[in-house]
Amino acid sequence: MVELEHTHNILSELGLNTASELLEAKLEDAIHKNATYLSFLSELLEVELQEKKRRSEERRIKLSKLPHRKTLEEFDFSFQPSIDARQINELSTLAFAARAENVIFLGPPGVGKTHLAIGLGMQAIRFGMTVYYTSLAHLIEDLQKAAHQGKLERRWRVYTRPDILIIDEVGYMQLERASAELFFRVICSRYEKGSIILTSNKYFGDWGELMNDTVIATAILDRLLHHAHIINIRGESYRMKDRLKSGVRFVPPANIPVKDNLF
Ligand SMILES: Nc1ncnc2c1ncn2[C@@H]1O[C@H](COP(=O)(O)OP(=O)(O)OP(=O)(O)O)[C@@H](O)[C@H]1O
Ligand SMILES: [Mg+2]
Repeated sequence: MVELEHTHNILSELGLNTASELLEAKLEDAIHKNATYLSFLSELLEVELQEKKRRSEERRIKLSKLPHRKTLEEFDFSFQPSIDARQINELSTLAFAARAENVIFLGPPGVGKTHLAIGLGMQAIRFGMTVYYTSLAHLIEDLQKAAHQGKLERRWRVYTRPDILIIDEVGYMQLERASAELFFRVICSRYEKGSIILTSNKYFGDWGELMNDTVIATAILDRLLHHAHIINIRGESYRMKDRLKSGVRFVPPANIPVKDNLF
């Protein structure tokens, strides 16, 4: 079958390896179904396209450095009634990312901030976007190391290029002035250009103390909140769910946000 071999060679040279692999199977299937030439061709190209999309998605998941693959579908909204499921559904259309708007999840430990941030990230990857995940502590450490090695400009792109930058765990670490300035520069570089999804256990009014500088904290918040969707989660820690079931109640420590006013 010279023709068959020739077709395999053409498909491989074009980089259509999945189509080449499935050529015989699809041919047999088409003969069996008495399919038209056109439907055979479109089926063959369809599997190639699906595989290409799958590989691209997998590549973007790896590049995103997401710590796990939690999805929005896995989130149990009935456990956290303070979250408006419709708002999360609306966000899952990713229209906010197309408009370079930000999403901010606030709330005490274990209420699902990281889960929802990652879920939106996974959804964005499914939609063909690029995402990068970092905790604030890691972002600062990484940029400081890069600056030390004279590679700041190159490293900077990691945080400015992706369609969505997830900055997790803002508030668990007090920042020194230099660190707060770096954080400010990251926020500035994405302002009205690319979305940020941020999670924090601290209310905005506490950010001055967190950054050791109210001027920088105000400038950061001014940009961050200009176009932002804020989800304020008040509820029990999901991590404590099983303990709650056994009758042990979770009493949040006094410094954990449990109020309606975000400032
Ligand atoms: N409503 C929920 N439905 C399903 N799983 C949940 C829900 N809320 C939280 N979880 C799970 O509970 C664990 C803790 O949630 P998550 O890490 O998102 O909390 P967090 O708000 O980011 O807390 P922290 O401030 O300590 O980082 C995760 O494994 C997450 O998948
Ligand atoms: Mg978290």
